[in-house]
Amino acid sequence: MKELLTKAEITHKLTKSEIIQLLSTDAINEELFKAADRVRKQYVGDAVHLRALIEFSNYCRQNCCYCGLRHSNEKIDRYRLDAATIIEFAENAKNMGYKTVVLQSGEDMSFTADKLIFIISEIKKLDVAITLSIGERPYAEYKAFREAGADRYLLRIETTNRELYKKYDPDMDYDNRMRCLKDLKSLGYELGTGSLIGLPDQTVEDLADDILFFSEIGADMIGMGPFIPNPDTPLAAAEGGTFTRAIKMLAITRLLMPDVNIPATTAMETLNPEGRMIALQSGANVVMPNVTEGDYRKKYLLYPGKICINDSPFKCINCITAKIKSIGRYVSEDYGYRAKR
Ligand code: 5AD
Ligand code: SF4
Ligand code: FES
Repeated sequence: MKELLTKAEITHKLTKSEIIQLLSTDAINEELFKAADRVRKQYVGDAVHLRALIEFSNYCRQNCCYCGLRHSNEKIDRYRLDAATIIEFAENAKNMGYKTVVLQSGEDMSFTADKLIFIISEIKKLDVAITLSIGERPYAEYKAFREAGADRYLLRIETTNRELYKKYDPDMDYDNRMRCLKDLKSLGYELGTGSLIGLPDQTVEDLADDILFFSEIGADMIGMGPFIPNPDTPLAAAEGGTFTRAIKMLAITRLLMPDVNIPATTAMETLNPEGRMIALQSGANVVMPNVTEGDYRKKYLLYPGKICINDSPFKCINCITAKIKSIGRYVSEDYGYRAKR
């Protein structure tokens, strides 16, 4: 087992069955996390990139069985911010020192291409990198957003097991999602993808396939987190993913993709109060603090127990900056593009 780790640390290559072996034992977790931490330090250094997350609409036309934003969920209080408010939140983020703004929402088609182009081009004037996380759209729109100034796009594949995908993303089409990922890549976006860890019936084989997929598609950013059952969804009674398994997936991904950007995700911190710091010490190099103001954070409820729902943007940036320093790391002052090596 330890030879596997040494091989991964030096060559950044593992076969599917080797990934499965690592995922299937907890005997060398600490060594795995330390190896991922060394590779992180060697390739992307001690800088932690902060991305300012704006959750601008919780309307969604999709019906993913795991997600609180699914359109069949009538218990959620829906909101959408107007363009002026979104731009104001972005300005506030810029003034707090953020170099990247992430615009995230459900698949809310009332945000037409024209509306989004306006918002993107206004925010671009602030001289920040812009990441979009707004789901599946046609090629022409992805192209127009890119031309308006969007630099990056997050679209998780969620699971590479087609059967599970069909089951848990009933209204969606795996091939179209793949089409979106390829379109985004071809348009020159920095591409972010990732998966949910611990969906019911998801196996270690599936998880190994996910990691191999991230590499195949040429992702620049990989966002992963444990699946956390939401009581207002069809998967309410599911068991959910574990923190340890999520960190193991993160660490193996870092070993195999040494120069990509990997966030310490909010879902990890939901399962463990030190989750993001543990992730940063197991391969991650990005954190995405919330800069949405007011009551909206509470309403953007993908899963229960979401952190920071009663905190302000100011509180979060101070909190996270202090935590990053406490583990001997520092907040990056650049835009945080992938440092390709
Ligand atoms: N638990 C954890 N993550 C979830 N997401 C959606 N629902 C859940 C849940 N119940 C994730 C999806 C989506 C991202 C924005 O949030 O992976 O891509
Ligand atoms: Fe909509 Fe995304 Fe939630 Fe699916 S995961 S219901 S697409 S917000
Ligand atoms: Fe929000 Fe710590 S990051 S309070």
